[in-house]
Amino acid sequence: MTPSLEYTPELAKEMTPLYERLQAVIPSVEWPFHAPLIHAINVLKRERGAVILAHNYQTPEIFHGVADITGDSLKLAREAQNADADVIVQCGVHFMAETSKLLNPDKTILLPDARAGCSLAASVTGEDVRMLRQAYPGVPVVTYVNTSAEVKAESDICCTSSNVLAVVESLNAPRVLCIPDEYLARNVARQTDVEVIAWKGRCEVHERFSAQDLRTYRESDPGIAIIAHPECPPDVIHEADFSGSTSGMAKWIDAHRPGRVIMVTECSMSDNLAVEYPQVEFVRPCNLCPHMKRITLRNILDSLIEMREEIKIPADIAARARKPIERMLRLNS
Ligand code: 13P
Ligand code: SF4
Repeated sequence: MTPSLEYTPELAKEMTPLYERLQAVIPSVEWPFHAPLIHAINVLKRERGAVILAHNYQTPEIFHGVADITGDSLKLAREAQNADADVIVQCGVHFMAETSKLLNPDKTILLPDARAGCSLAASVTGEDVRMLRQAYPGVPVVTYVNTSAEVKAESDICCTSSNVLAVVESLNAPRVLCIPDEYLARNVARQTDVEVIAWKGRCEVHERFSAQDLRTYRESDPGIAIIAHPECPPDVIHEADFSGSTSGMAKWIDAHRPGRVIMVTECSMSDNLAVEYPQVEFVRPCNLCPHMKRITLRNILDSLIEMREEIKIPADIAARARKPIERMLRLNS
């Protein structure tokens, strides 16, 4: 049964402290729609014994309003492994929910919109990996977590943007395949003596940033800080003061407290940090991930009411796909 979603004076009062935190990033006209949903989700998740994991690219009303745990892909994978709950609602994209399922085969993993995909995950299939292994016999396959379980099942080890260098070097091999993100592979290749063979996948959000745009910002404000995600093209990374995973970028902001900063990544990340660092001015060359944005308060509530969309992975694929993730998690523990 759908709970009441009326914005009553009592609810408005109860939710005022949260809105005071979020008012810089959520317009007041939107709050009466968000507040009842946030309240209803928080009540229902307790009733269901559910925990909500949210990626750093989720919108502020999700990230600050209903998430129990937030972070980058690596942190969410670790937290999924440790989650003390029967139900995990994954506020992120499909491969993240699959990773949670692989690490928690006996738990119920819900993705509020099963269509939340990823251009990187869509760029490579299990058959492609088998073909690569034939073309490069004996060369280990490092697979970005932004892939399907079917692709992970064909891989030696997974990586995320925060541990890719450590993973590549852990293999003690003269060359490795690093798939499917071409730019992540080229960016890590510049930091290691290992020969890194790339695939042609791209993140549709990060490939759109241009080095020329960043130079233009820098010319108009030489003191501005620029931090970029390693899914960006190498010439964009070259213009940045720092490059790291989404959590790496958040840590950089915390350590450096710049006056003005450009976050060269998905838009909501700046909104979420702006709530925590009101003294930092975030310049937002805004690119939205359409897949991350499929997750809304409304479909999170529906997912808890109807217990859907439940992630299921065929047992034979799951057994093989779990190994490269666990190998990665062991490496970093
Ligand atoms: P991280 O949060 O691991 O840096 O990944 C970014 C991303 O694009 C996830 O889809
Ligand atoms: Fe995929 Fe890029 Fe969206 Fe992340 S931001 S889910 S890598 S398309």
